[in-house]
Amino acid sequence: MKTAVLISGRGSNLEALIAAAAEEDFPAEIVLVISNKADAKGLEHAKSAGIATAVLNHKEFEDRESFDAAMSEAIEAAGAEFICMAGFMRLLSDGFVKKWRDRLINIHPSLLPAFKGLHVHERTLEAGVRFTGCTVHFVRPAMDEGPIIVQAVVAVLTDDTSDSLAARILEQEHHIFPQALRLIAEGKVRVSAERVLIEGIKAPDQSLINPT
Ligand code: GRF
Repeated sequence: MKTAVLISGRGSNLEALIAAAAEEDFPAEIVLVISNKADAKGLEHAKSAGIATAVLNHKEFEDRESFDAAMSEAIEAAGAEFICMAGFMRLLSDGFVKKWRDRLINIHPSLLPAFKGLHVHERTLEAGVRFTGCTVHFVRPAMDEGPIIVQAVVAVLTDDTSDSLAARILEQEHHIFPQALRLIAEGKVRVSAERVLIEGIKAPDQSLINPT
């Protein structure tokens, strides 16, 4: 399954996807990485893996719709049929989300639907929750909403800072993003009444629960 990845910055999730895709039996191939920032570090990861890159600066477009249309054009020109948002910090137009419905996934560093939006780790600590985690989900027009594909659970420690918590969650993000992409590319994922059904899976993978 030819896949495009959208990034805005560091690109550690992109790196995890590139590493997974390099495995012999991985059913998806990353054919294009698009960044809306020319200085995104993730672009370097893509280039050193020999993956085509494109920079589309959103500030050079008249509106969100024309920026998104340019992204769609680049994605289709690269032959991609699926999109992963890996730390892409732009809201998408309804038209783009509709066009790529169920072919567009995002990763978010919380157990959605809790803690949507920005400053997730700070808000997680402020709320005093004992467990948090990360979520890979299909994208819908509302931010950080959509059918959940995979989640991993991470315990919040009493001495956590937002940085220490973010680092432990990020480690799990790097597991579940390739896992979700694999399941989809294998044709095992179906959306029914806005819930995800995964062929052959009755319970979540227990190794994705990380109590300490
Ligand atoms: C990750 O925490 C991801 O969940 C969020 O943005 C961050 C991106 O990190 N959407 P990276 O660029 O993949 O390192």
